Amino acid sequence: MTIIRYSQLVMPQDANVLGTLFGGQMVSWMDISASKAVHRFLKDSEADAALTRAIDAIEFKETVNVGDWVNFEAKIISTGNSSIIIQIDAYRETKALEKTLACTAKFTFVSVRKENGIYKKINHKKSI
Ligand SMILES: CC(C)(COP(=O)(O)OP(=O)(O)OC[C@H]1O[C@@H](n2cnc3c(N)ncnc32)[C@H](O)[C@@H]1OP(=O)(O)O)[C@@H](O)C(=O)NCCC(=O)NCCS
Repeated sequence: MTIIRYSQLVMPQDANVLGTLFGGQMVSWMDISASKAVHRFLKDSEADAALTRAIDAIEFKETVNVGDWVNFEAKIISTGNSSIIIQIDAYRETKALEKTLACTAKFTFVSVRKENGIYKKINHKKSI
């Protein structure tokens, strides 16, 4: 199963009031890393893009600090007619820690095509 990688350095503007990584920022980066996997999957398909339909089973397992790196691993675990399910694992990296699992979630994207200015779901006719 192909793993798609994406990384972010945690900057001061990414922090919450406690000074650790804001959860909403983590989810936003996970969404981007899922979209990178979906972008690769939909190459040569009839879909214009895919939209985030659902986010399930999100778990924040470890805090992440300003100055840490977060390394995201995205894996497409299943596909339906229009849906694409992506597992995202976010690993914290510090000077001392090489890789510790900080956050996990399952994203569902839906393949869409623009028709009369509106994005509508389509059968992407692809599977993993
Ligand atoms: C994405 C969108 C076009 C899908 O259209 P829809 O008519 O709602 O589609 P459906 O409810 O039939 O669901 C489409 C697929 O998602 C799956 N699905 C729907 N709800 C789901 C859920 N809660 N969890 C997991 N999968 C779900 C369906 O089973 C279906 O899969 P399949 O085609 O592989 O069988 C529409 O819901 C939409 O525009 N949502 C807003 C998207 C958005 O703005 N996202 C945030 C920014 S990216």
